[in-house]
Amino acid sequence: MHPLLKSRAAAVLGRLGVVALLVVTAGTLHASASSAKGAARIDRDVFGHLADGTTVYRYTLTNGHGMRVRIITYGGIIQTVEVPDRRGHPANVTLGFDNLDDYVANNSPYFGALIGRYGNRIANGRFTLDGVTYQLPINNDPNSLHGGTVGFDKHVWDATPVHGRDTVGVKLRLVSPDGDQGYPGTLTAEVTYTLTASNGIRIDYRATTDKATVVNLTNHAYWNLAGEGTGDINDHLLYLNAKRYTPVDSTLIPTGAIDPVAGTPFDFTKPTAIGKRIRESHQQLIFGHGYDHNFVLNRKTAHKLELAARVTEARSGRVLSIYTEEPGIQFYSGNFLDATLVGTSGKMYRQGDGFALETQHFPDSPNHPNFPSTVLRPGQVYQTTTIYQFSTTH
Ligand code: BGC
Repeated sequence: MHPLLKSRAAAVLGRLGVVALLVVTAGTLHASASSAKGAARIDRDVFGHLADGTTVYRYTLTNGHGMRVRIITYGGIIQTVEVPDRRGHPANVTLGFDNLDDYVANNSPYFGALIGRYGNRIANGRFTLDGVTYQLPINNDPNSLHGGTVGFDKHVWDATPVHGRDTVGVKLRLVSPDGDQGYPGTLTAEVTYTLTASNGIRIDYRATTDKATVVNLTNHAYWNLAGEGTGDINDHLLYLNAKRYTPVDSTLIPTGAIDPVAGTPFDFTKPTAIGKRIRESHQQLIFGHGYDHNFVLNRKTAHKLELAARVTEARSGRVLSIYTEEPGIQFYSGNFLDATLVGTSGKMYRQGDGFALETQHFPDSPNHPNFPSTVLRPGQVYQTTTIYQFSTTH
């Protein structure tokens, strides 16, 4: 790097109270920022190439407090999340693949991916907005799932490293043209992943449009706090800050009802093992092949970050707490993992080997006027934050 640029970069980071070193060489980027608490750094390498030659980069965020997170520009996918257990031993706690080809060929489970424009299902792939009916691709018969056939999880995002005072991150940007997957309006989406010094992954979502449209962005990471590839998550204790959920029909579209969880296998208001009631002959569990439902979060405020879920794995002592500004969270117990995919560490994934907790507006909201609105209009800014916070029990 030109020495002037190098000193400017150092000056900028210096102003942020961070001692920084930035070195860019052909194809790789390495930046480190050290503070009294430890060293945080961003590295970049080439993860692979798409068939058309597009380069997919991988950003490795390290926080100097035992956590390392890898993000790839294809789908904005969180590839790995290494987190220490109570004794300080790290394990990768998210499901994924070790190479790009597998993500491109098989990402029907949406491992770690950014989901857009619309997280979860829209009934029959159809909705009406301001009197106009829009038809989306039917990729989960008879519905449209996770933004359609070529959702945001299948695009290569532009990426810029981001340095904070004691954080490192990567800002991703994607412009989805008017009519993309049937959705109206040019949607400009920005998602920033930040690894904090306190072992949190913060995800800031932002979007604007030039025509009225609907938006519901989320991330589809699957977690196994004992370590990816170590078995199922049935023993993980789950707490959900939700007294109500949205029951679904046999195609997993909400009926429109908002039902209490009390007295059902959907009551996670006290920490309960995920597997404890998963085989009960409850109609909703049968429809979902397990848990695959949106929970209505108890909220004290309309839009501030509040605790949505907390998951504890006893043997490792790892705890994942999820804070969000969203009204809902989809709890999916990995029901459709079917032993056909081999994950990052070379182990095959079976049903229930990971769970997803996707912070979101409710599925099929455009067809349910009683659900919080997902409409975004020109001049408005869609902005929402979710934090995946890791800690350990003693
Ligand atoms: C959906 C599931 C789906 C999974 C992977 C979840 O968000 O609710 O039904 O199988 O994503 O696509």
